[in-house]
Order: sequence, then C-alpha cells, then structure tokens
Amino acid sequence: MKLLIASDHGGFALKSRIVAFLSKRKVHIEDLGTDSDGSVDYPDFAIKVAERVSQGHADAGVLVCGTGIGMCIVANKFRNVRAAVVSDPYSARMAKEHNNANILCVGGRVLEENGKAEEILAAWLDAQYQGGRHDRRLDKIRQIEKQNFK
Ligand code: RB5
Repeated sequence: MKLLIASDHGGFALKSRIVAFLSKRKVHIEDLGTDSDGSVDYPDFAIKVAERVSQGHADAGVLVCGTGIGMCIVANKFRNVRAAVVSDPYSARMAKEHNNANILCVGGRVLEENGKAEEILAAWLDAQYQGGRHDRRLDKIRQIEKQNFK
C-alpha cells in the first residue's frame, strides 16, 4: 500500500509525528511537504495528494492542516476521492468501514490537545471497508461525480 501525506504549516508538527509513526509500522509513505512551519496555503498541498489519489497513483493519503477542514474541502473536489476529517478513533474506523475514505484529514491544532493522532491513524489503517449496503451509497456518490465533473 502506497500512502501519501502532506500538510500546511498548521499541520507540519503533527505530520512529522505521523510520518514517524507510519514508518515504524512499515507503511510505504511519501511526504509531499510542506517542509517547515513557515506559512503556506493548504490548497496547494491538498492538491498534491488528492490529484495522485484521484488518478490512482497512490492508494490513499493523509492531509494535515490546523483543523483538517480546509484540506478535506479541497480533497473532495477530486473525482474518486472520499476524504474525511476526523478527530477520534471511532470516526476514523467508520470513515473506512462505511465510507471507504481514501484520504484521512486531521487537524494539528486539534489533535495536539488530545494526543490521539496515532490511535486515529491506526484505526483507519486497520479497518476494512464493509461493502454491502454501503456500495449502493458510494455508487450514488459516483453518480454525482459523473453529473458534476467534466
Ligand atoms: C491556517 O492558519 C489554517 O487556516 C489551516 O491550517 C486550516 O486549519 C484550514 O482549514
């Protein structure tokens, strides 16, 4: 499994922690920046990950900004991307089991408070998409993409 990760300045510190955690778990992870806590614009980094996941060049991605919200808004503009912003392990697991989220968005300024980042990442990575009734719902999302995207 190839995983991409990127952040803005608000997520830079947490991204470094996540990269260390995933590397320990032997996940093949590629870090697409940013490389410091200097101010940047989150869409520029969300695009790097979402575009590659959308085109099938990577299986999944992680995006980190201050809250995770901006990254998630941008990522969901791309066909085939199902990005979810989460701040607890239960939502992370559900994002995979029910929504088959292929990009997880988290907030550096949110999770530095609760210290749950590693638990959240593990919950998402270890969960399996359940299919069944959820396929019908994801198909409806694909229909929206067909209608709204060129
Ligand atoms: C940057 O200050 C902040 O707006 C950004 O990291 C993110 O939280 C946006 O959703």
